[in-house]
Amino acid sequence: MAQNDQQPRVLIFDTTLRDGEQSPGATMTHEEKLEIAGLLDEMGVDIIEAGFPIASEGDFAAVSEIAKRARNSTICGLARANYKDIDRAWEAVKHAKSPRIHTFIGTSPLHRAIPNLDMDQMAERIHDTVTHARNLCDNIQWSPMDATRTEADYLCRVVEIAIKAGATTINIPDTVGYTYPMESAKIIRMLLERVPGADTITFATHCHNDLGMATANSLAAVEAGARQIECTINGLGERAGNTALEEVVMALRVRNDILPFRTGIDTTKIMHLSRRVSTVSGFVVQPNKAIVGKNAFVHESGIHQDGVLKNVETFEIMKPEHIGLTVKNIAMGKHSGRAALRAKLRELGFDLADNQLNDVFVRFKALADRKKEVYDDDLIALVADEQTNDAHEHLQLKKLRVICGTEGPQEADMILTIGGEDHHIDATGDGPVDAAFMCVKMLFPHKARLQVYQVHAVTEGTDAQATVSVRLEEDGRIVTGTAADTDTIVASTRAYINALNRLIVRRTKSAPDADVKSVNYTDAP
Ligand code: KIV
Ligand code: ZN
Repeated sequence: MAQNDQQPRVLIFDTTLRDGEQSPGATMTHEEKLEIAGLLDEMGVDIIEAGFPIASEGDFAAVSEIAKRARNSTICGLARANYKDIDRAWEAVKHAKSPRIHTFIGTSPLHRAIPNLDMDQMAERIHDTVTHARNLCDNIQWSPMDATRTEADYLCRVVEIAIKAGATTINIPDTVGYTYPMESAKIIRMLLERVPGADTITFATHCHNDLGMATANSLAAVEAGARQIECTINGLGERAGNTALEEVVMALRVRNDILPFRTGIDTTKIMHLSRRVSTVSGFVVQPNKAIVGKNAFVHESGIHQDGVLKNVETFEIMKPEHIGLTVKNIAMGKHSGRAALRAKLRELGFDLADNQLNDVFVRFKALADRKKEVYDDDLIALVADEQTNDAHEHLQLKKLRVICGTEGPQEADMILTIGGEDHHIDATGDGPVDAAFMCVKMLFPHKARLQVYQVHAVTEGTDAQATVSVRLEEDGRIVTGTAADTDTIVASTRAYINALNRLIVRRTKSAPDADVKSVNYTDAP
């Protein structure tokens, strides 16, 4: 059965930019947030949770700008259960054609204990804050955080209060990924049966993946009557992450025979968004990740390959084209021209401005000279690098030579441009990467701690490009830098420098305690 207009619509609420970005190290720049929001809007996401405006000036600015630019999606801002948060969220989203305020409070016994509110006091807070939000905006979402560990009677009571106070969407968060499918469905059914006015609002499901059941729990909630799924691209999010958008959307499409619901998502945009979120967040997608993993459509074993060659449906339940995955082939050669490159990049989802295309073209030619075959994934890595590493940043790698091998110590010799001026140094280290990083540290002293250093080969073969991500932490600020190059040491050093450039920007823009990750979620200020 195919999805059709007669089927009930499930709204897709994407929280990559709020719950996803909250994941340690997944911090995105302002421009990256705008880009991802634009892609989500274009893909047909119904509601984009663009951030948590009270958390920092940066979050406020991003939510406001996303609200101004959104063409189709409703733009939502998160607020705790207090007037200050709600007013700030409204200030940020009010520019949108369709704004929404999302306010929440933890209702389970464990969460009630933190602000030290008894059941009646919390009920009163919910009434007052939802009423306040509804006086500002007519589209209000309310969430009882940790709903799945909240007593059933109390959950019914507070949901009724929120509906009476004017909430138009009630979201049921499984904040700690604790529920399982039958229970997830049971909670939605109970609320629909027991709460007066439940039939006048939309129920949403918001699942975390701590037990690996977020997708199943979300779909079970839909079967029971929820009509909004909250999710993130690649399942990005704290701990084990959130429900993955691509999984629920494709499950609703592929198993429409037993889940007869439709969404407004253009699924052919999934792969491009997955790659961009992976690049800008620095969170690499595991190869065997459902739908968007590198191996999701690869058939290695003889039996599988034979079956697929005879009839692709023997081992494929969906087509790669459905998620926008083009067949992997040799994309381009060193004789390919600018127009061919532009066309190829468009096919891969990148619509570059002329100056950006020129820069990418120069690098593509250099890559084609060094590498026998340039694949789609090479081009994607190259564009991602171009978009991440800006030639006008404070620190630039001008020259690097390393000496490495079985006889240590390894040595690096570097020219680093700092604020437009070249500085030269050499250093030794425990391996060539360590030596190169040491050069950077000596030329640009800082106290940032290296939290993550990851290297991935973009394609097969010893001439493959390496993409590197480096996560640094300094005074509570966490930044991720990425870079790609056929030389792993160069890619590593540029990723490290990219992270430092981001740290420099963050130092000037926000006090560490204004960072979204350090905002206390349960306690109202
Ligand atoms: O997981 C959660 O409970 C949340 C709330 C803020 C809705 O993200
Ligand atoms: Zn959450």
